[in-house]
Amino acid sequence: MNYRIVTIPGDGIGPDIVHEGCRVLEAVGKKFGHSFSFSPVLAGGAALDATGEPLPQSSLDACCAADAVLLGAVGGPKWDTLPGAKRPEKALLGLRAGMKVYANLRPALMFRQLSAACPLKAEVVGSGLDILIVRELTGGIYFGDRGRSPDNSSAWDTEAYSVPEIARVVKIGFESAMKRKKRLCVVDKANILETSRLWREVTESMKGDYPEVALSYMYVDNAAMQLVRNPAQFDVIATSNMFGDILSDEASQITGSIGMLASASLGDSGPGLYEPIHGSAPDIAGKDLANPLATILTCAMLLRYSFGLEAEAKAIEGAVEKVLDAGWRTGDIAGSAADRAALGDKLVGTKKMGDLVVSAI
Ligand code: IPM
Ligand code: MG
Repeated sequence: MNYRIVTIPGDGIGPDIVHEGCRVLEAVGKKFGHSFSFSPVLAGGAALDATGEPLPQSSLDACCAADAVLLGAVGGPKWDTLPGAKRPEKALLGLRAGMKVYANLRPALMFRQLSAACPLKAEVVGSGLDILIVRELTGGIYFGDRGRSPDNSSAWDTEAYSVPEIARVVKIGFESAMKRKKRLCVVDKANILETSRLWREVTESMKGDYPEVALSYMYVDNAAMQLVRNPAQFDVIATSNMFGDILSDEASQITGSIGMLASASLGDSGPGLYEPIHGSAPDIAGKDLANPLATILTCAMLLRYSFGLEAEAKAIEGAVEKVLDAGWRTGDIAGSAADRAALGDKLVGTKKMGDLVVSAI
């Protein structure tokens, strides 16, 4: 079977890491007898430079027509002073809305080989960190009505959610929990926000379908605290767009594995959008220094969620484990200056790390 993947290498280190992701997919294809075709399109700063638009219509059309979309990273200081509608981030929002990928799955996982990089004390972390944040991605305050009074003396942004918008995300939360440790925590601000109260009502109306899932609710301020106080209490967190944005950054940081974390954005039908959670790191772009493992692990999510290729996804994840077990590290996961010096030739760049994963597959 041939799978058509549209790539958005994007800005900064995006092209470096997407290149390695594609090589790894090719290796998996060779091993398991699939073929993948890759068609790059422009979005973000690269598209602004070439066309004046952060997300040209032709790029969005190509993404919607693909079997899956792999995105590296967009943005950088070069475009930071542009007005809102012309910022590279606009491409991300345009892709999410245009591809109707309403559920954003962000696993926050601590790799045991990198546990020394976890900023929390070992006794707080316990046996490890493995949390899945399911973030609503195409609604809420990100897409609500916003504006300013004519005299600029006030401004507003609006949080609005409909029952179906909530239900489809909470459903993914329940279903993900069923495949994991069967715990779902809906995070909200129901002591203040009417939208949060609706999230709770919708969740209550659905919980009967998932009797095995231990359901809880938590206010977002408390959740921010609990994530650093006792992260092991969480399995799956389902939450709104903005709360999910904030908590997923916090959760990724406490794993200490930020250069390793993947994400998937899914809709009902149509292609999923896959991207590493880290940014475009323009300072190290093109220097063969970026860690490609988050993108490589993102490719595993792509195989799993878009193509149902579980054995192939596991082959990638197993290969990454093997490379880490053998002690290979890129700079970002190499530890202190002393650790780094002790690594010798096991301290490698982007391409070599890609090679290692390819040969482990
Ligand atoms: C993310 C990012 C984006 C978001 C920005 C760049 C628009 O922070 O993917 O989490 O807020 O969703
Ligand atoms: Mg964010």
